[in-house]
Amino acid sequence: MGAPLKIAIAGLGTVGGGVVKALSAQAAQLAVRAGRELVVVGASARDAKKARGFAVPNFTTDPLALASSDADVVVELIGGEEGPARALVEAALANGKHVVTANKALLAKHGKALAAAAERKNLQLKFEAAVAGGIPIVKTLRESLVAYEIQAVKGILNGTCNYILTEMEASGASFADVLKDAQALGYAEADPTLDVGGGDTAHKLALLSSLAFGVAPDLSHMTVEGIQHITPADIHFASEFGFRIKLLGVARRTASGVDQKVHLAMVRARSPLANVDGAANGVLVDAGQAGPFFFSGRGAGEAPTASAVVADLVEIARGSCTPVFGRPATELAGFKAGAGDAAFTPWYLRFEVLDLPGVLADIAGHLSAAGVSIESMIQRGRAHGAPVAIVMITHEAAQSAVERALKAIAASDKVRARPCMIPMEAA
Ligand SMILES: NC(=O)c1ccc[n+]([C@@H]2O[C@H](COP(=O)([O-])OP(=O)(O)OC[C@H]3O[C@@H](n4cnc5c(N)ncnc54)[C@H](OP(=O)(O)O)[C@@H]3O)[C@@H](O)[C@H]2O)c1
Repeated sequence: MGAPLKIAIAGLGTVGGGVVKALSAQAAQLAVRAGRELVVVGASARDAKKARGFAVPNFTTDPLALASSDADVVVELIGGEEGPARALVEAALANGKHVVTANKALLAKHGKALAAAAERKNLQLKFEAAVAGGIPIVKTLRESLVAYEIQAVKGILNGTCNYILTEMEASGASFADVLKDAQALGYAEADPTLDVGGGDTAHKLALLSSLAFGVAPDLSHMTVEGIQHITPADIHFASEFGFRIKLLGVARRTASGVDQKVHLAMVRARSPLANVDGAANGVLVDAGQAGPFFFSGRGAGEAPTASAVVADLVEIARGSCTPVFGRPATELAGFKAGAGDAAFTPWYLRFEVLDLPGVLADIAGHLSAAGVSIESMIQRGRAHGAPVAIVMITHEAAQSAVERALKAIAASDKVRARPCMIPMEAA
């Protein structure tokens, strides 16, 4: 057996605590798998007095001290794209230490520079836990699906959003009410903005995009929407049409570059992504001639996330050596945004209008003028002059054409609320 791998852990919260416990509980079998012991030699957290239910050697409240300890690997589990997390990762790499992190925000913003810093020194920077928790999608894209060109990656990457959408469907309750319950149950943060606004999904999608398409992680060319505006009515209508509403991160190869979007989508009820329920995550990879492949499982929480961190540590202990994003950082292409309209899809449209003569003709006229044709329609409620919901499914159309029509429709004084448009995904 080789010399022990010395590990310093910064952050002893949900994930960090889980890693400490897993390394201790599984020590014997991990040593056999890795060919050497995995030993925690130091750890840091903000609050020295907090009861944590486990012991660590050489505790410090200064995470940066770990970068100059005698550890071989620094595990960054603090979080945040700047601050102590970034300073620690940079210092650890500068001091010749491998790094394992679960920090998607940090890597989505500084991934290419950090990968270059690691690779210049032949160090490993691993981040399996940063995307989809316990699902081994990072390793799969980095190492397994390399023979054929990946065409698209679609994922349900945020458990909080998926939990809220699943509960809204089951209970018929509003977004606000379900969010409140989710916060009480610990499924949503006190400040849920990053989750429900789509930002967390965007961070993860940028990393998947980089692994799949060989581009530097890039958030600036990504359109991002969240789930805050979804209504129980939309969820109900979706099910009438045989669909479910999901928040997807979608990255597609196009003729001109990579199209990246975080958006609500109607997903066919029988498809694998539609059946990812509650706080689970799911990823569908269209790997050209080799695919499609579908992965699902627990995307967050102590055990699945700690399991992904420990898997990275075992790989480092074995001496495995892989470029951070699957190809050298110097080979990562600058991000080129592909045309979003490359994907023509049918659209779900919902209008809240006053039930007056001519309203329907106006809507149909604007859609037709933009080249968007209607496949089917539902109108609910009939009360002259009162608000009613009109729902339409269009034939395949470009997003820009639908947006043009909706802008004109929204300007009408017979339209009561912002029209809702959701693409209908084939898979
Ligand atoms: N939770 C999940 O399911 C999950 C899943 C995937 C990825 N991640 C990622 O994993 C990372 C950690 O998440 P978590 O849920 O474990 O967070 P957490 O429970 O909030 O733990 C954060 C830890 O960092 C410490 N910390 C915070 N600010 C600090 C500072 N300024 N200086 C020093 N230490 C500081 C905290 O110290 P105290 O304990 O003393 O407060 C705590 O131990 C994040 O990047 C997150 O995005 C989490």
